Amino acid sequence: MPNILVIGSLNADLVVRAPHFPQPGETISGDDLHIIPGGKGANQAVAAARQGASVAMLGRVGNDSFGPFLLDSLKSDSVDITHVHSDDSATGTAIIVVDANGQNSIVLSAGANGKVSPADVDHASDLSPSLILLQLEIPTLTVLHAAQVAKQNNIRVILNPAPAKSLPDELIALVDFIIPNETELSLLTGHEVKDISSAEQAAKILLDRGAKHVIVTLGSKGALFVSDKQVTHIEAYPINVVDTTAAGDAFIGGFASALLRGLEIEEAVKYANACGALAATKFGAQPSLPTKEETEKFIS
Ligand code: RIB
Repeated sequence: MPNILVIGSLNADLVVRAPHFPQPGETISGDDLHIIPGGKGANQAVAAARQGASVAMLGRVGNDSFGPFLLDSLKSDSVDITHVHSDDSATGTAIIVVDANGQNSIVLSAGANGKVSPADVDHASDLSPSLILLQLEIPTLTVLHAAQVAKQNNIRVILNPAPAKSLPDELIALVDFIIPNETELSLLTGHEVKDISSAEQAAKILLDRGAKHVIVTLGSKGALFVSDKQVTHIEAYPINVVDTTAAGDAFIGGFASALLRGLEIEEAVKYANACGALAATKFGAQPSLPTKEETEKFIS
């Protein structure tokens, strides 16, 4: 039985490095095209598996060549794919430009991810994970249903509200941990997040809306953990940023696996911070996700 069930997206990432992001109407030349396994759901599944967790993925791919490509990547990290189904849509795709500073710009085509349904969640009732990981690249209705089912079964839920979207309070109050970045937190709360102090204020808005624990990933400013008992800022690691794609996913997978190993929340956030930092030092989504050994070596 898996400890972690990830209910979410699988994308083929079509990635080009370019000196800068094109302006509207501008055509620029980039590097070679790379086709890399990605998708926030699948990335988080691989991130947790590389940290030693036993992980299952629930989602959908299309009947095209990207489907088996993404499933093979999950299998090679021992992620259980019994509940990833193929349908007649296109597999989810992400068109990604990475600039000279390692920042990215992403356009998604949801494809099969857009069809992941509440019924798909109900069909996975044979699994009884300790923890469920959710993101927002599948329909919000399905995410809400998954959180409701998890709650009924006393399963802890981590929600990564990415890509940024407004959400019903009902969902925010159902999850145990909500982990947005600055952009997502701004959109969720309507409060501009530009530094640690504004992140704390916005996180407290989420607490007022029913959130139990808010963890804000702040990129080069580290991370902030806010609950009704505690506000703790964790410094970023000084790193040479190559590509930030999937750094947030590495953080979530690292955090989930650290919680399951019994770490206290603050210690798990520190561990996750190292996982995210390491991922930003490598190019690509799933290829950049660190193992437990790599993370422990980095921390020490
Ligand atoms: O979080 C990174 C991921 O976002 C990429 O792998 C891409 O697929 C998009 O979903």
